[in-house]
Amino acid sequence: MFDQRTGKLQIGTASVFEPLLQPARYKGAWGGRGSGKSHFFAELVVDEHISGRGMRMLCVREVLKSLKESAKLLIEDKIQSLGVGHLFEIQKDRIKDIYGGFIIFEGMQDHNAESIKSFEGFDRCWVEEAQTLSERSLALLRPTIRKEESEIWFSWNPRLEKDAVDKFLRKNRPDNAIVVQANWRDNPWFPDVLEAERQHDLKIYPERYDHIWEGSYARAFEGAYFARQLNEARQQRRIGFVAADPILPIRAFFDIGGSGAKADAMAIWIVQWVGNQINVLDYIEGQGQVLAYYVNELRSRKWHPVCYLPHDGINANNVTGKRYRDHLEDAGFDVVVIPNQGAGAAHSVVLFLQRRNY
Ligand SMILES: Nc1ncnc2c1ncn2[C@@H]1O[C@H](COP(=O)(O)OP(=O)(O)OP(=O)(O)O)[C@@H](O)[C@H]1O
Ligand SMILES: [Mg+2]
Repeated sequence: MFDQRTGKLQIGTASVFEPLLQPARYKGAWGGRGSGKSHFFAELVVDEHISGRGMRMLCVREVLKSLKESAKLLIEDKIQSLGVGHLFEIQKDRIKDIYGGFIIFEGMQDHNAESIKSFEGFDRCWVEEAQTLSERSLALLRPTIRKEESEIWFSWNPRLEKDAVDKFLRKNRPDNAIVVQANWRDNPWFPDVLEAERQHDLKIYPERYDHIWEGSYARAFEGAYFARQLNEARQQRRIGFVAADPILPIRAFFDIGGSGAKADAMAIWIVQWVGNQINVLDYIEGQGQVLAYYVNELRSRKWHPVCYLPHDGINANNVTGKRYRDHLEDAGFDVVVIPNQGAGAAHSVVLFLQRRNY
């Protein structure tokens, strides 16, 4: 709350966000629903403006069709609840402070390399719902926010490991970044209405619970053929580290993709058959790579499997004119090509496995 006498603002911060109160070029908060990410950054926005430095602040999302989708309303509410309305002027498309600072709201998709330059003098940029930020937008934004001591903040609910913000702040985190994970239990103000939602998901939709509430990457999507089976396997702790049996043969099952940039993904499962159980030991996936890449992966991971190719595995590769089968045999692997089972075969196998509950 704002103290009229001292002119100071006291904001209670959840301890999970405390590391983000110190200066850093990049700040990130990721996690599941209702963890307080948006409220934390909205309060930080207000706090920075109250310091009286004439802060220029840009709040962005990948797509902003109307200001209603922006953080504007949340920031306005914070200004009121913190009792600092007299230090701000709320305008239709922006919020101004009495020290010459202001906050504007933009969608990255409305900008290009030229137009984005108008933000070069900004002190802060907050990217809300950063999981939808494209690689292009991230690459445009970073060199644009270039003022001395400027900061870029990200708040997001993780979607996929390969999303731009996850690669940038989690996989290859820069040294000058502070990133925290926040979930519902870290939010001291977690409201009852969200607790009821959470409990309902836990009970009725366990397959999406971890993704929505605990910030995990989306795994088996609903509607995926084996979503339920995969979820059960996870809950029954059947997914974990499995050691290879030194006696039994190693088998590699290929789902063949092409080698062009837009080709389907190529997937290889390394498995062993142990009694009537299949142990999956490793998984290799790639897109647009030549076959030599996969041969190399198999070798560097020390697998020397029998390779199982689908019937299209004997077709000529359009780059080399050779067949996949020949390539793999040249590389020293035994190859089995599964014959074409006819129309509808794949579907009936899926149904069979779903019924058998594998
Ligand atoms: N600092 C705070 N002061 C008061 N209430 C808060 C605060 N932080 C969080 N809350 C309460 O917790 C709820 C969830 O917070 P918030 O919307 O910031 O979470 P989030 O992580 O952004 O969620 P989502 O993933 O759904 O966007 C808010 O609706 C509010 O009721
Ligand atoms: Mg939010």
